[in-house]
Amino acid sequence: MHAREIRKGIEVIATVHWERRLFDSLIPLPDGTSYNAYLVKGSKGTALLDTTDPVLSNELLEQLQGVEQIDYVVSHHSEQDHSGTIPMVLARYPNAKLLCSSKAEDLLHTHLGVATDRMRVVENGESVSLGDKTLQFVYTPWVHWPETMVTYIPEGKCLFSCDFFGSHLATTDLYVTDKARVYEAAKRYYAEIMMPFRNVIQKNLKKIEEYPFEVIAPSHGPVYDDPAFIVDAYKDWVSPTMKNEVVLPYISMHGSTERMAKHLIDALAREGVTVHAFDLAVTDIGKLAIALVDAATLIVGTPTVHVGPHPAVYYAAHLANLLRPKLKYAAIVGSYGWSSKAIEQIAALIPNLKVEVLGTVLQKGLPDADTFTKLDELAKAVAEAHRADPSVEKE
Ligand code: FEO
Repeated sequence: MHAREIRKGIEVIATVHWERRLFDSLIPLPDGTSYNAYLVKGSKGTALLDTTDPVLSNELLEQLQGVEQIDYVVSHHSEQDHSGTIPMVLARYPNAKLLCSSKAEDLLHTHLGVATDRMRVVENGESVSLGDKTLQFVYTPWVHWPETMVTYIPEGKCLFSCDFFGSHLATTDLYVTDKARVYEAAKRYYAEIMMPFRNVIQKNLKKIEEYPFEVIAPSHGPVYDDPAFIVDAYKDWVSPTMKNEVVLPYISMHGSTERMAKHLIDALAREGVTVHAFDLAVTDIGKLAIALVDAATLIVGTPTVHVGPHPAVYYAAHLANLLRPKLKYAAIVGSYGWSSKAIEQIAALIPNLKVEVLGTVLQKGLPDADTFTKLDELAKAVAEAHRADPSVEKE
């Protein structure tokens, strides 16, 4: 997309990946994504902040055709969706220096083959002058790699945040127009890559508060001209507070587990608990990750395949374990034909989740009245645990 000015002398060059449907070969992207580079023209120098995914290198290089000199390329993050075009930019601008954090130097060399003599490490708090514009670097580690940093330009009151606050959204919008759409896309990205590091991200949020930014310019999705919207959302996501919600991923082979899951969903709703249920045979696991950001309880529903849980449940449980959501409670329900070790095996899959198990209901064959009574009791136990826990929000 053509370069667009967000402040005098500061342009966004967005390369929009309309057709991308999977990120990290893992999380679905129903709305595509974009990679934003920013061109900063000062009175005494020009800088390019981040680049683009190598798949779209040509689009960025075309937009730079009229730019005769770049003095600095800034790499906020070494992952290839932002850094992948750095070698091409450095080749075109042989005098440009690559500015990066101390931990990025090795990553940019090993991942992209950038020669060490093309790089210059900038320290946390260091500034580089472009004349009438200043690049101030702030280390914001673990968003979501160890080397991540952001840049603040005081003359424009802009914060360039790379993945931090980014949203997976292919759009022609320069600024956020549909907040609900951006909120979900940003939460999807947070859930997939940042949730496990939320304690560090909480510290990073405090760190950036020292800078009076009026605009947040991320490297995915539209620019925030009302930054409080996304900063407040992040504060909510990283806070220890949970919501009175259950995430219930399940799958069914012959209908027994589905009947149990549906009964439990209704029983939880009667108890005033919000349920996010996902049939793993058809679900977008990005939605599952989003639901895990706030929920207090995870309930897994599985049939039995060769004595263990269904492979789709293995996958979902492993993903939840990797993402380390806030969850404090868990339960397992399911069914089997002749024998099952599903409960033990699921429990072994989630060692990172420091949860209290509120109950298990495992049914041989069809669920009956006794099964439904046990599910009603489980729903009551979940509601009671949420009510008694001061870290679960009350309506
Ligand atoms: Fe958007 Fe971690 O890359």
